[in-house]
Amino acid sequence: MTQRVLLIIGGGIAAYKSLDLIRRLRERGANVRVVLTRAAQEFVTPLAAGALSNDRVFTDLFDLDDEREIGHIRLARDTDLIIVAPATADLLAKMATGQANDLATAVLLATDKPVLAAPAMNPRMWSHPATRRNVRQLEADGIAFIGPKAGEMAERGEAGIGRMAEPIEIADTATQLLTERPSSKTGPLAGRHVLVTSGPTHEPIDPVRYIANRSSGKQGHAIAAAAAAAGARVTLVSGPVTLADPPGVAIIKVQTAAEMLAAVEGALPADIAIFAAAVADWRVATTAGQKLKKTKGSAAPTLALTENPDILKGIAARSPRRPALVIGFAAETESVLAHAQKKRTAKSADWIVANDVSPATGTFGGDWNTVHLVTAEGVTSWPPQSKDEVARLLIEEAAGWLAAHQTEV
Ligand SMILES: Cc1cc2nc3c(=O)[nH]c(=O)nc-3n(C[C@H](O)[C@H](O)[C@H](O)COP(=O)(O)O)c2cc1C
Repeated sequence: MTQRVLLIIGGGIAAYKSLDLIRRLRERGANVRVVLTRAAQEFVTPLAAGALSNDRVFTDLFDLDDEREIGHIRLARDTDLIIVAPATADLLAKMATGQANDLATAVLLATDKPVLAAPAMNPRMWSHPATRRNVRQLEADGIAFIGPKAGEMAERGEAGIGRMAEPIEIADTATQLLTERPSSKTGPLAGRHVLVTSGPTHEPIDPVRYIANRSSGKQGHAIAAAAAAAGARVTLVSGPVTLADPPGVAIIKVQTAAEMLAAVEGALPADIAIFAAAVADWRVATTAGQKLKKTKGSAAPTLALTENPDILKGIAARSPRRPALVIGFAAETESVLAHAQKKRTAKSADWIVANDVSPATGTFGGDWNTVHLVTAEGVTSWPPQSKDEVARLLIEEAAGWLAAHQTEV
């Protein structure tokens, strides 16, 4: 799951287990942001949570920098799921009564995203009528619960129901909640088909060698995941990559440009096509049937190249089943904007997402991207941001365009 999880850690002994939960969620491909309550910081440090989440940790509602840069409303909305673990008796009480007097509770009151609570507390606190009442209220409000479990408590001699569920169980439930994709009925791309290409192509020289490029597929895969999260039916045509398949996406795996074109044509019609793959411009004219051998005294072989099919142009300019919105990518190492503008008209694409892939930018293989959206109306330059965020914004723009043009395939 390339999804965003906001983990709110409350002030209980089980907070140390939530550090492991961060790892478990990230293993499953989630981006994890952490909010620590003031009490939680008595049990675990922001430093440890930040090191494990690989992101800054949020602790204070009245931190001016936080509010200006990101703010509690954005924290509440820029996520796909909120997990409260451990959910203390105190946090459950505040959530049930709609209090918002610190960052964690303000975020929980401001969110419109699903919330999963993993309570942990002394068994007497859990069975107290006040906590029972609060849990009933929260269930009625749509909050999902996992645990608590029966077992030994951290306090000596205490046993009963109150142990926090194990991090693996919480991560599994989170995955389920994220992949249920309620947005497929209600998201901005519900009922739409989005076709995405991703990754490099491998063009064989002989049975063991090939010509490739440095594309990792991270941007294309993130776009497919973002389209699925927006409710679309998604077909992802992917060249050879080492990434996990995005959840909720039909994936067709190919090697060469010719195979990619065939898969794309087979997947049409679509409402939107986003060609993010780095397709090889050329392939070897004659692929050797056997491994080319190095023989003593003979010259190195010369590879004759021939042009590959132009997938973007073929679909955007010539296909009778052209999607309503065709978006190409331009990976350039110089004159990025000029090349992208030329490419847009030459290929009859509606939009080009231009990015600088010079080695110094770290774009190929990295997690960040700086892109310019080139349309008939002009150029919009987006700030440097994660590939997930670029994907989400691009899908938001595309969904907005489609809604404005109201076309159905
Ligand atoms: C050593 C210690 C352990 C605690 N463990 C828990 C716990 O497991 N569950 C709980 O609900 N409260 C526990 N508390 C009480 C909470 O820390 C306290 O209610 C606090 O106000 C919760 O703040 P928060 O909900 O904003 O994180 C514990 C307190 C102490 C001092």
